[in-house]
Amino acid sequence: MKYGHFDDNRREYVITNPRTPWPWINYLGNEDFFSLISNTAGGYTFYKDAKFRRLTRYRYNNVPMDNGGKYFYINDGGTIWSPGWKPVKTELDSYECRHGMSYTNIKGSKNGVEAEVLFFVPLKTWAEVQKVKLTNNSKEVKKLKLFSFVEWCLWNAEDDMANFQRNFSTGEVEIDGSTLYHKTEYKERRNHYAFYSVNAPIQGYDTDRESFIGLYNEFSEPQVVTEGKPRNTEAHGWSPIASHYIEVELKPGESKDFVFVLGYVENEEEEKWEKKLVINKKKAKECIAKFDTVAKVEAALAELRAYWDNLLSIYVVESGDERLDRTVNIWNQYQCMVTFNMSRSASFFESGIGRGMGFRDSNQDLVGFVHQIPSRARERIFDIASTQFEDGGCYHQYQPLTKRGNNAVGGNFNDDPLWLILSTTAYIKESGDYTLLDEMVPFDNDETRSKTHFEHLKASFDHVINNVGPHGLPLIGRADWNDCLNLNCFSKNPNESFQTTENKTGGTAESVMIAGLFVVYGRDYVELCKQIGKNDEAARAQKEVDKMIDTIKKHGWDGDWYIRAYDYFGRKIGSNECEEGKIFIESQGWCTMAGIGVEEGMVEKSLNAVKERLDTPHGIVLNNPAFTKYYIEYGEISTYPAGYKENAGIFCHNNPWIIIGETVIGRGNNAYDYWKKIAPAFREEISDLNKVEPYVYAQMIAGKDAFKPGESKNSWLTGTAAWNYYAITQFILGVKPAYNGLEVNPCIPADWKGFKVTRKFRGATYVIDIKNPNKVQKGVKSLTVDGKAVAGNIIPIMPEGKTYNVEVIMG
Ligand code: BGC
Repeated sequence: MKYGHFDDNRREYVITNPRTPWPWINYLGNEDFFSLISNTAGGYTFYKDAKFRRLTRYRYNNVPMDNGGKYFYINDGGTIWSPGWKPVKTELDSYECRHGMSYTNIKGSKNGVEAEVLFFVPLKTWAEVQKVKLTNNSKEVKKLKLFSFVEWCLWNAEDDMANFQRNFSTGEVEIDGSTLYHKTEYKERRNHYAFYSVNAPIQGYDTDRESFIGLYNEFSEPQVVTEGKPRNTEAHGWSPIASHYIEVELKPGESKDFVFVLGYVENEEEEKWEKKLVINKKKAKECIAKFDTVAKVEAALAELRAYWDNLLSIYVVESGDERLDRTVNIWNQYQCMVTFNMSRSASFFESGIGRGMGFRDSNQDLVGFVHQIPSRARERIFDIASTQFEDGGCYHQYQPLTKRGNNAVGGNFNDDPLWLILSTTAYIKESGDYTLLDEMVPFDNDETRSKTHFEHLKASFDHVINNVGPHGLPLIGRADWNDCLNLNCFSKNPNESFQTTENKTGGTAESVMIAGLFVVYGRDYVELCKQIGKNDEAARAQKEVDKMIDTIKKHGWDGDWYIRAYDYFGRKIGSNECEEGKIFIESQGWCTMAGIGVEEGMVEKSLNAVKERLDTPHGIVLNNPAFTKYYIEYGEISTYPAGYKENAGIFCHNNPWIIIGETVIGRGNNAYDYWKKIAPAFREEISDLNKVEPYVYAQMIAGKDAFKPGESKNSWLTGTAAWNYYAITQFILGVKPAYNGLEVNPCIPADWKGFKVTRKFRGATYVIDIKNPNKVQKGVKSLTVDGKAVAGNIIPIMPEGKTYNVEVIMG
């Protein structure tokens, strides 16, 4: 069953039934100021950091789900309703929610009144704009009472949920005309406040939650709304909110618009006050003035649309299959921007207080984003590299506000350093800008300990070779990409975290996955060294890569597939010898991508084993057979019930590794088949089972051993977005940035007749028409640029500012 449909022309998903199987959300904001918004207007807002600068309150794990948000209440002669159905849940005469590129438009109607609310964060603005349009479609005059509602969070979202003995006494507000200010802690150490305004006179307000809602009421029935009368309260402690009250009279056929602005301001120390205890409102007023008419709001929305038109014109495929096209051209790229911005911090599955920016996560996310705004990718690369140590190791996570490594989580995840090579080379290939390699970048954010960015890459590479175990394979440390394979942890205590607890000393557990990863990114490092003339370093690195390949062939091969790891005691994991967890996806992915033993048939065998043992109708599971008991020597992986998460769930992040592996041996049929299985638009018809949004990837789909195979969880913030985008655009459709041009090397189903890709690259536009007359899965027979034959399959870099027609014949 479906709950809506795609509107590709407007780049929107249109939800027509508010009772989606889970809140289906969207993100507003692109750089500093963000909101999450569900299809019933639930969600919250923050500035830069969902933990340290939370503007509005949200209660995760609430009953019912998704309670609290940016609510509007309408009291129409005693009938009370909300345009987004919730929180009031009065049955609406019509409902529609359109989630678009950084905006959401929710429209509801009841008894002849239509209320439409457009939510977005204008570009370069620290505020969310909400345009409310009320229309009277009835034949009589309507006298409506409109109430807005947001609940302030006392800034630190974690403390806000825990420290009530203090927080119930600190809340402070100011009321100034139609603007309600939240200034808790501004008097002392904070230089910021928030505000909520409307561009019309108000007939009342409330800023104290209990007065507005009533101590024994719920969001669905605030007493002020039911009574139809604000109480004009000024909050002192407890829970400050902001609610405007507006009386609206509408003649038949008449419409009125109101613009609400929810914003954030920072003031310099000397400019904090207007007078004693009265905050300086200058910046707030400037911000409000920018959006005080409908025309200004529409202009800001047009700018936002143009921003997305531009970003989404960089890679455009026309394949003939609308589901493929909308995934590649719209939603997957959009999700890549969101994951780039959020890493794993704030979604409806990530509470905004748990995880900041992940070192490995952010490097990988960048690969799906770098073509959109390379300059932001460049900045991010330095932020990440600054949390590295001299020996190449790094903090596993850092906070976006402070950009400091997160001490509580620590480091020693031994795959982490290598991902920096991926992000850096992806950036250079996209932009042609090598200058970042010479920039001085600190270690551990300490400017006195700076070296060039190139030295950071070298440290990443060396970190692997300086940390190998008894078989010559990389030591796993706390864990590799699979955070839940904790081979040195031996945890018996339920009160400790598998990821951060003290590891047993002398651990020599080794990871074949890191070995494969090292071969792939070690080769990229070698190639980069050659590009910049560091030939000795290239030769040294190549030797290490070759050595690792030999080691994998010798100690990483199980006969029919690659072994996953060696445990603390030197025993194989992911081997036919094991009782459970005989085969794992990660090492098959990385070793096939690296082409290890391709001549000896190892790659093909491994991929055949994946097909036979891990493939399911909903995607490829992580391991098989699933673990059915706790293996203390494996850690968290064996704590999950079979079929979920890292224990034989379909972990969508790593499916593309197999997809790319399939392209290494030219099996385009398989590659595309795998890609389709987890692509959200292809799962829209089974929305009931799939549960989460049909327009974005989820981290995990329940595997074949689960209670409900095919049910998805953890949508939005997942490496799945970048990896699937990378796999489909660069390996299946096969248009891939290279140092010296645009490589074209598709690997597609044999029955595809062809497709077209328009790619903007280093200032020029290439319209690439790929034809497949011979029904092959891989291989480029000829390539012409504006009719001229080019040898090989790389489109050379052409002069900027023009469009070039490229014809590629496969065969
Ligand atoms: C984490 C990744 C990790 C993956 C597999 C995700 O939740 O963000 O860093 O690689 O799980 O364990």
